[in-house]
Amino acid sequence: MAAAARTVRMAPRLAGLGRPVIARSAPSVAQRAAFSVSAGRFKSEVIKETEVPVSVYSPDSKGTASSSSDHFTIPVKNNSRPLEPSPEEEDVVPLQDKVYNQLPRTLQKMSVHGKVIIITGGARGLGNHMARACAEAGAKAIVIFDANQDLGDESAAELHQKTGLPVSFFKVDVRDGHAIDAAVQNVVDLYGTPDVLVNSAGIADSNIKAETYDPAMFRRLIDINLTGSFLMSQSVGRAMMAAGKPGSIILVASMSGSIVNFPQEQSCYNASKAGVIQLGKSLAAEWAKYNIRVNCISPGYMDTALNKVPALDAQKKIWKQLTPQNRLGAVDDLNGLCVFLASDASGFMTGSNVIIDGGYTLY
Ligand SMILES: NC(=O)c1ccc[n+]([C@@H]2O[C@H](COP(=O)([O-])OP(=O)(O)OC[C@H]3O[C@@H](n4cnc5c(N)ncnc54)[C@H](O)[C@@H]3O)[C@@H](O)[C@H]2O)c1
Repeated sequence: MAAAARTVRMAPRLAGLGRPVIARSAPSVAQRAAFSVSAGRFKSEVIKETEVPVSVYSPDSKGTASSSSDHFTIPVKNNSRPLEPSPEEEDVVPLQDKVYNQLPRTLQKMSVHGKVIIITGGARGLGNHMARACAEAGAKAIVIFDANQDLGDESAAELHQKTGLPVSFFKVDVRDGHAIDAAVQNVVDLYGTPDVLVNSAGIADSNIKAETYDPAMFRRLIDINLTGSFLMSQSVGRAMMAAGKPGSIILVASMSGSIVNFPQEQSCYNASKAGVIQLGKSLAAEWAKYNIRVNCISPGYMDTALNKVPALDAQKKIWKQLTPQNRLGAVDDLNGLCVFLASDASGFMTGSNVIIDGGYTLY
């Protein structure tokens, strides 16, 4: 009743604007129900026009209704972009010799043209994407060392199929010095002495209080993250020295090697990465005389399987808030830096630890 009265009261005002107004009484409950059902149906039947037909009726210069009209259409922008492929699904386009030869000198230097590159932990995550980037930046051969047989095999086959480049997978645990030596020797036999080692294999434990940390777990993590980085560097470094070949070793450390993460407690991981950074500096100083450069990449929080643990979901929100860029790093966010450190463009750079963290360590 009140709604009906409101409609009637509005009528004179609208009539005053010279428009025909028909005052209607409020719909009954049954009418309202019928209306709401059909409104729902119409909602899902919205027709998405690619252009909107328009008819314009304008009064003539004296202000009286004119019989002429204007008809035209206006284009509609379709803002719903097609879904972009995930970084995993994207093509990997190797750098062709013909294209390389046409590049200006600066860009040639920034490539890894003709280089043999070993990447540990290359079966997935950051290592896998750095492997793809090296393939696109001109690598002669890509070699994946990883402890995961199935993933390693799959990713090597995929990279080879996408690029046509020689790609090999060696199932190697980075804690196993003898297996590493045998595999590195095999790489030398297959492709020649490696030019680059990217050490990305690593594990993380977090949310473990130091006072209750199981010493066996502590040793295991140090063994993989720190001793593994050393054994790989030692083996590849020896091969480079034996061949008298300059080389670049890239150790994936972490910002956790320089800061203490919040709010999760992870003393062992942080200590392991601090060790990797100091190992990198020490090797850089010792091996500069062999023309072997050693640098670290220290990522902030990255959106990889390593962090896709339900227990970390709530903490991820805090991590984002503490990162000026307000996001986690994408799985391919290290690619450019990796290629640069592997390339001759970074020839005067050794012993550096490059933090790449969306600004996290600024606060
Ligand atoms: N994801 C992050 O937020 C983040 C941040 C800073 C640093 N990092 C470091 O980056 C590196 C790569 O991390 P990710 O996120 O890609 O992890 P990931 O778990 O996706 O990939 C790690 C790879 O290393 C391999 N691996 C693990 N233990 C190994 C061993 N003993 N021997 C050989 N291979 C082994 C795994 O099979 C896997 O393929 C790690 O060293 C990690 O500590 C990661």
